[in-house]
Amino acid sequence: MPAERPLAPFGRRSCAVTAAGDDGGYRLFTLLDEEGPRPAPGQFYMLTAEGEWQGSSGRPFLPRAISVARVLGERGGLRLGFLIDVVGPGTDRLNRLAKGDSCMIAGPFGTPFSMPKEINPEAVGAVLAGGGIGIAPIAVLRRDLVSRGVATRTLLGFRDRDHSGAVATLFGCEETRLAFEDGSGGHRGYVTDLLELVLAGDDPGGAVVYSCGPPAMLEAVRRMCAGHDVPVELALESPMACGFGACFGCAVPKPDGGYLRLCVDGPVLRGDRIASAMAGEA
Ligand SMILES: Cc1cc2nc3c(=O)[nH]c(=O)nc-3n(C[C@H](O)[C@H](O)[C@H](O)COP(=O)(O)OP(=O)(O)OC[C@H]3O[C@@H](n4cnc5c(N)ncnc54)[C@H](O)[C@@H]3O)c2cc1C
Ligand code: FES
Repeated sequence: MPAERPLAPFGRRSCAVTAAGDDGGYRLFTLLDEEGPRPAPGQFYMLTAEGEWQGSSGRPFLPRAISVARVLGERGGLRLGFLIDVVGPGTDRLNRLAKGDSCMIAGPFGTPFSMPKEINPEAVGAVLAGGGIGIAPIAVLRRDLVSRGVATRTLLGFRDRDHSGAVATLFGCEETRLAFEDGSGGHRGYVTDLLELVLAGDDPGGAVVYSCGPPAMLEAVRRMCAGHDVPVELALESPMACGFGACFGCAVPKPDGGYLRLCVDGPVLRGDRIASAMAGEA
């Protein structure tokens, strides 16, 4: 059963940047959204910085899809946190937003994560696995599950300690297990190593896995969960032009033929609904 999906207000709206700073190798900024509903974990927004968008180079033309990483306050005065990793002109401009600037947003969009018992009535808890910038929706999901009293285990992976993605800010003091590819702390290696250990030690009937991260990581998670017969929901990324189902720019193939549009059918999808988590790679 799909989780409740808040309805985004029509069109774009201007939001003030109330805080911005570098945190864990990424940029974390906060917008004050006075109109939109509270987003559900896993949803995303289409963002456009008001200044310098479509600059002298002509790019970027289109808004960029960004997951909400933190939600504070209530409708009418929501503060939405976004974590930015610069990969091109759109994220570069969002990365340069400072307190007092304005940002146009549309959303929240997309299908959110389901609760564990919606996926498996026998589920006794959730295992969360995030990698790199993919910790953003995992942080929102984690807070939601904890507030509902759902037992969670959180596994996070990064290339090194300098890129540990605002863990303290987004996850607080709550217990997390960390993996660093360069061995600069925690487990030396991938977050999927930690997940394999957890799944091997679990009663597979009791776990539901949730994951977000780079496509190769998500594909490894998808295969691992299929191998252990554990249900998994993946928050996927693919290039998005419109964000609301009109352009088919975000299509990902289904196992039995046909396509899903990640912006409306996803970005959160069950592992068994897609042919590969690598299919939408930018
Ligand atoms: C649902 C969803 C949620 C997202 N959440 C976030 C988020 O929380 N924070 C964030 O920083 N980004 C997020 N992204 C990714 C972001 O929207 C894209 O990376 C976007 O295209 C970047 O725009 P750009 O103009 O900076 O780079 P582009 O010009 O679009 O891309 C520049 C180069 O980077 C490559 N590229 C594009 N996307 C990625 C990527 N994700 N990783 C590595 N290389 C890439 C492209 O192939 C191209 O070569 C999300 C995407 C989706 C679909
Ligand atoms: S981004 Fe246009 S259909 Fe999904």
